[in-house]
Amino acid sequence: MRAVPVLRTARTRIRLAQASDASKLLHFRVDNAAHFAPWEPLRDVGYYTLEHAARTIEQGREAAQSDRGYPFVVLDADEAAIIASFTFSGVMRGPFQACFLGYGLAAGGQGSGLMQEALQAGLGWAFGQAGLHRVMANYMPRNERSARLLERLGFEREGYARDYLQIAGCWEDHVLTAKIHSAD
Ligand SMILES: CC(C)(COP(=O)(O)OP(=O)(O)OC[C@H]1O[C@@H](n2cnc3c(N)ncnc32)[C@H](O)[C@@H]1OP(=O)(O)O)[C@@H](O)C(=O)NCCC(=O)NCCS
Repeated sequence: MRAVPVLRTARTRIRLAQASDASKLLHFRVDNAAHFAPWEPLRDVGYYTLEHAARTIEQGREAAQSDRGYPFVVLDADEAAIIASFTFSGVMRGPFQACFLGYGLAAGGQGSGLMQEALQAGLGWAFGQAGLHRVMANYMPRNERSARLLERLGFEREGYARDYLQIAGCWEDHVLTAKIHSAD
């Protein structure tokens, strides 16, 4: 198990979710269902239950334990609510030292730099303590907010993949970007 610390930024606390966060995760999902729907796989009704949220948290902790993935939740500074989440998934070690990054911010939190603030801290951990060299993040061409966020964070475009992911029930092209660890 790689140690996963609590990351602190001016406005957030960032950590792996724990069992007691299940109702906060459920609220985050329910409150933002319509906001996330155009950018995520189809969800069935079971997704919006406390049981599913609890299982997600348990599976996330198992993934981190085995260095397969790190699903972080972003809470407000007093840890009253989950306001965003991001996941370093598909961790590949050996000569690659790479993973994918996915993220989502509550609808009401958009436009104030919160996601950038949280991801800057998360990427610092990924390239530091977690020892990763490459983080890959891909977005649908019409997701302009996501494109701007990745550009601000220093991700570079590497390609374009047709029919890359099934989002909202349709195969969608994606722009492929990555950020490489730099020593400076
Ligand atoms: C993609 C997503 C995370 C982007 O959220 P966001 O609020 O635009 O990103 P940030 O939190 O970094 O905020 C940046 C915006 O706040 C503004 N801002 C205001 N105060 C700021 C501050 N103190 N610091 C930085 N930016 C600030 C920036 O100008 C920027 O707005 P702009 O892009 O219109 O110029 C969000 O739209 C989302 O969750 N979408 C749905 C899920 C999704 O698409 N996931 C990604 C799939 S690839």
